[in-house]
Amino acid sequence: MDRRTYSGGMKIGILGAGHIGQALARLLAQAGHDVGLSNSRGPETLRDLTERLGHGIKAFSNEDAARFGDLVIETVPFGRYAELPTVQLTDKIVIDTANYYPQRDGPIDLGGLSESAFMASHLGGARVVKAFNTIHAAHLETQGDVGKPLEERRAIPVASDDAEAKAVVSDLIKAIGFAPVDNGDLEHSRSQQPGTPVYGQDLTARQAREVLAVR
Ligand SMILES: NC(=O)c1ccc[n+]([C@@H]2O[C@H](COP(=O)([O-])OP(=O)(O)OC[C@H]3O[C@@H](n4cnc5c(N)ncnc54)[C@H](OP(=O)(O)O)[C@@H]3O)[C@@H](O)[C@H]2O)c1
Repeated sequence: MDRRTYSGGMKIGILGAGHIGQALARLLAQAGHDVGLSNSRGPETLRDLTERLGHGIKAFSNEDAARFGDLVIETVPFGRYAELPTVQLTDKIVIDTANYYPQRDGPIDLGGLSESAFMASHLGGARVVKAFNTIHAAHLETQGDVGKPLEERRAIPVASDDAEAKAVVSDLIKAIGFAPVDNGDLEHSRSQQPGTPVYGQDLTARQAREVLAVR
């Protein structure tokens, strides 16, 4: 599938229906995409939520959400990574929003990898893009503004080993009113993990590039 196939209305599967999953579901559906959500307990437990969210957002199992999406977002707590449907995610662009908090997620040996490089090694064939991990869900809902010039919008750092996947995700970020900032490959994405200077900060693209030391 080339980049043109990803433009316009896409099918987007979202694994995880919590704070970030709900915010992205609403924003992406409002931007014209066909969105399906899953959680750990099955689609029947999501009916009230999908009705409340509106925009035709569907409720799926993890496997069906992964199969449905031309692009998939994984936004489950990091410690639940082993429950993701790896087979159905093969060859898909997968946005990884996760942050590893040992107190919440328990001890996990990342083998010296960045959090998203670890996730990518677990997912095997998926085209992993780290994004949306640096912004609080409430700010994701309220701070996007498609009316603002790119350089004045809040920055969202984006990292991937796959240039085309990164470009597709950057287009999605622009479509919901934020400014993507290229933060290199998955190994470099450790500079946007919890505790780094960009994490949780409301920065413009220029400010974020300075803080991340990228162009
Ligand atoms: N909250 C934020 O502001 C924020 C900001 C940036 C990044 N993040 C990161 O994004 C990720 C999600 O955060 P969140 O705050 O949205 O989480 P959350 O509100 O705690 O929600 C977690 C969601 O994941 C689902 N889930 C758990 N295990 C699952 C599995 N095996 N398969 C499918 N769904 C599963 C849960 O469903 P059930 O209820 O059925 O278990 C729930 O819908 C975390 O890694 C977090 O660190 C969060």
